[in-house]
Amino acid sequence: MLVTAEIISLTVDHIRNVLANDSSGHDWWHIDRVRRTALEIARQEQADLGVVELAALLHDIADWKFHGGDEHAGPRAAREWLERNHVDPTVVDAVCGIVAGVSFKGAGVATEMPTLEGKCVQDGDRLDAIGAIGIARAFAFGGHFGRPMHDPETPHQLHESFAAYKAKHSPTINHFYEKLLLLKDRMQTSTGRRLAAQRHAFMEAYLKQFFSEWNADFGRQSPVNA
Ligand code: ADP
Ligand code: NI
Repeated sequence: MLVTAEIISLTVDHIRNVLANDSSGHDWWHIDRVRRTALEIARQEQADLGVVELAALLHDIADWKFHGGDEHAGPRAAREWLERNHVDPTVVDAVCGIVAGVSFKGAGVATEMPTLEGKCVQDGDRLDAIGAIGIARAFAFGGHFGRPMHDPETPHQLHESFAAYKAKHSPTINHFYEKLLLLKDRMQTSTGRRLAAQRHAFMEAYLKQFFSEWNADFGRQSPVNA
């Protein structure tokens, strides 16, 4: 086995340390949920569990959202960490490829993962962006970056490039239409698709209620912003 219990344990300690005190929805418990979900998917899909676990642990080690938009910061930090700990080069390449490709980059930008292990980690990460936890994380992120919760005068946009997606600072409700509601159709494993369907339905019910309260229509109308 190329991925040892020791490197997993060292990586857990390292990541807990790197992400300590995060209040934007990218804290250690996000990483832990993604790890558990990705491993569950990997068991169903018969993927390499060691690569999936290491990549899930390292996937947000230096996210571009917190590093001036630099999308190479994550794979670079993951590689440094793995090489410093003498991890097998084939594992290093597999894990860093996943860290480089995992992130959502805009509605019009394809981000399919080429490997089965990558599909497991990306589905695990995206499942944590939807459903009850996804809603909580979106508002935590918006608050952290000083975004308004909702602004009915700011229409949502489907971004055609990563540059346009990065540059946008939309209110949090827009983020549902710009990313979160699109994720169920971008799942790459059958286990991911099944889990996403239920979480997606929950978000739709949540938005219906949100707009009913916002519009003070007392449940008489459906969402205006959908
Ligand atoms: P990804 O790499 O696909 O962006 P992450 O694990 O980094 O996934 O988490 C992204 C999460 O951060 C989103 O699902 C959401 O909860 C939050 N987030 C990112 N951008 C925004 C935004 N503009 N408004 C609100 N939440 C956001
Ligand atoms: Ni993540």
